[in-house]
Amino acid sequence: MFSAKAQLVNQTRVQIFDLYQQVRARTLEIVAPLEIEDYVIQTAEFMSPPRWHIGHTSWFFETVLQKYQLGYKVYSDEFLFYFNSYYEGFGARIERPKRGSRSRPTVAETVAYRTHIDEQMSAFTEKLSDRDDAETIGAILRLGLEHEMQHQELLVYDIKHLLCDQYDAPIAPAPRALETVSGMAEVEGGLFELGYGGMDGGERGSSPTVREGPIRKRGDKSPHSKNYDFAFDNEKPQHKVFLQDFLIDRAPVSNDNYLGFIKAGGYQDFRWWHSAGWEKVNQEQWRAPLYWEQHDGEWMIRDFGGLHPVADRSNEPVSHVSFLEASAYAKWAGKRLPTEAEWEKAACFSPALNSRQDFPWGNDEPAASLANMFENGLWSVAQIGSYPDGQSAYGCQQMIGDVWEWTTSDYVPYPGFKSEFDEYNDKWFVGQKVLRGGSFATPRSHIRTTYRNFFYPHERWMIGGFRCAKDV
Ligand SMILES: [Fe+2]
Repeated sequence: MFSAKAQLVNQTRVQIFDLYQQVRARTLEIVAPLEIEDYVIQTAEFMSPPRWHIGHTSWFFETVLQKYQLGYKVYSDEFLFYFNSYYEGFGARIERPKRGSRSRPTVAETVAYRTHIDEQMSAFTEKLSDRDDAETIGAILRLGLEHEMQHQELLVYDIKHLLCDQYDAPIAPAPRALETVSGMAEVEGGLFELGYGGMDGGERGSSPTVREGPIRKRGDKSPHSKNYDFAFDNEKPQHKVFLQDFLIDRAPVSNDNYLGFIKAGGYQDFRWWHSAGWEKVNQEQWRAPLYWEQHDGEWMIRDFGGLHPVADRSNEPVSHVSFLEASAYAKWAGKRLPTEAEWEKAACFSPALNSRQDFPWGNDEPAASLANMFENGLWSVAQIGSYPDGQSAYGCQQMIGDVWEWTTSDYVPYPGFKSEFDEYNDKWFVGQKVLRGGSFATPRSHIRTTYRNFFYPHERWMIGGFRCAKDV
C-alpha cells in the first residue's frame, strides 16, 4: 500500500507526464506545415531556425537527464554544442547569429534526437516516485515545459519572420467585436501587493511548486487557477508598492490610432523620441511598425493571413512595435506607458472584493471567450472589443492575450528576489524592459497576470503592443 506522500508524488508524476506529452506534441504541430528547407534558414540575427528550437528544447531535458539520471550517456557532444543557447554552465556553444550557418545536424537527425530524449524522459519519469528528490525534479521538469512553451511562442515569431504569409497556418475564423472600447479607466492609488504570492496567496520566495492534486476544471470554485501552480522566480516575492491614482487605456492602442501618429509625422519629429529611439529611427529608417509596407502611398500590414490595408485592420491592436516606438507614440498622445505595477493592478485587482484575482475576469483559466491566445488558433490579433467577458474589474479589455504590452518598468529583480534557476532569469536583469499579459502566440496554460516578459527596448519582431496610462 502507498503512503499518502507516495500517492501525492505519484499524482504529480502523472500530471507532469501528461503536460510533458501535451507540450512536446504542440511544438511539433507548430513546425508541421514547414518544408525541410524552412527549418535551417536564419533570416536575422535575432531569430533562430526552427530546427534549432526543436533541438534546443530537447537539449534542455537532456541537461536534466545528465544531472539526475545515474549513468546517463550523452547523445552527442556535437548536439550539446549546437543546441545550447546561452548557458555558460553547460559549456561551449555556437554563437547565436551562426545558428543558421550550418546544415548539420540535419532535420531528420534533430527529430531523432528529440524522439530519443522523449523515450529517455518517459523511462525517467516512470521511476520518479521512488526518489527522495522527486519534488525537486518535478519542479525542474515543470520549468523545462514552461521553457518549451516560451520557445513555442518564439517559434511563431521566427516562422513569421521567415515565411509570414507563405506559412500555411491553420487559421481559425476571427471573432467579431462585440462592443466599442474607448477611454481610460481610473484606478485608485495606495499600497498594492505586486507579484506572485504563491498558491496560498502569500508564500514568500517559495520554490516553484508542482501542485499535488487533481487538475481543476473551469468553473470550480477553487481559489486559484492551475496556471498559479507555477511561477518563475522573477515574479517573486510578492511585495508592497505604493501607487498614485492613475488612468489607463481600456483598450490596447489600435492600428488606426498608430496610423494617426505616422500620418502626423511622428517618425519625423525628434520631440517624441528618446535619444536611443531617435537614433534607431534614423539608423534603421523606421517609418512604421515591423511588417507594415507602403504600396502606392497606402500602408498595408503583412501577417500570417496575407497583405491587408491598415484600413481593414484599423480596430486591431497595433503590434510589432518596439518600446522606443510605444514611448514615442505615448508622448505624442499626451500620455505615457504604465509601470508594470500599474498594469498588474489594472489587470487583476478587484476593488469590490478588495483582493487580487488570478486573471482580469476572475480565477477561471483562460478560455476562447475570454482572451485571444495560441489555442484560439487565430494566428493574429483580434479586433478590439472581441472579448468583453475577459475585462478586468476596471473595465480594461484584452489585457491577457493579443499582444504583450510594453511597460515603462526596467526588468530588474523584485526586492527580496532569490534565484531559483541558474542562468534562467537573473542573468538578464540589465538593460531590458518588462512586457505583460501574453500574446496570441502564448499557450493558455503559460500565462499569469504576474508574468514578467522582457525584451530590449529596440526589439520588435515579437508580438509587442501597448496601452497608455496617464497621471490623474
Ligand atoms: Fe531556451
